[in-house]
Amino acid sequence: MQPTVIAPSILSADFARLGEEVDNVLAAGADWVHFDVMDNHYVPNLTIGPMVCQALRKHGVTAPIDVHLMVEPVDRIVPDFAEAGATVISFHPEASRHVHRTVQLIRSHGCQAGLVLNPATPVEVLDWVLEDLDLVLLMSVNPGFGGQAFIPATLDKLRAVRAMIDKTGKPIRLEIDGGVKADNIGEIAAAGADTFVAGSAIFNAPDYASVIGRMKAAVDA
Ligand code: DX5
Ligand code: ZN
Repeated sequence: MQPTVIAPSILSADFARLGEEVDNVLAAGADWVHFDVMDNHYVPNLTIGPMVCQALRKHGVTAPIDVHLMVEPVDRIVPDFAEAGATVISFHPEASRHVHRTVQLIRSHGCQAGLVLNPATPVEVLDWVLEDLDLVLLMSVNPGFGGQAFIPATLDKLRAVRAMIDKTGKPIRLEIDGGVKADNIGEIAAAGADTFVAGSAIFNAPDYASVIGRMKAAVDA
């Protein structure tokens, strides 16, 4: 199991004050910045691209930027995000014609590679590519929007993927995204996640440090 990472999703941040929001959440104890990229094609919503990632780097953000691509096709945008300062780039297998090729493409640009499984995507999609990944991201909501409820069946899926990762003996992170709150993160951690995305639970709270502190305490409990 990797050291715990809390990755606030800036999808729920105030975009008019994005640099300040990211500074504040990192000062409040966040470890990574989760960066949701939506194209109004693979998912029915439209967000931010490489220019905003680069702007955060120029603003002085040095924390890892965890880019979650909800775009189709994937490959064309990978080099742009690598150049813009992405640390991790994750994508959905349904959005890539050649999953293994996309993983290699991400790595060839010096980034860590992650594969994202939607709630109904079977874990077998990992069978022949898991050892090439740095991270597996399980969606606990359908991608496209913040503020949705955690889908409980994801807990069994976490346990299944945890076992698959442990079997490889490799330091592959298991990340969870969607509906993560201070009051359910404990059971999510117990099911095997080590990397936690939370958008609305953090950015809708009045005190970022207090909610991140409660999340970390619940993971360690
Ligand atoms: C959904 C995004 C998530 C989203 C999570 O498609 O991938 O990262 O921002 O938001 P919450 O934590 O509010 O469910
Ligand atoms: Zn996300």
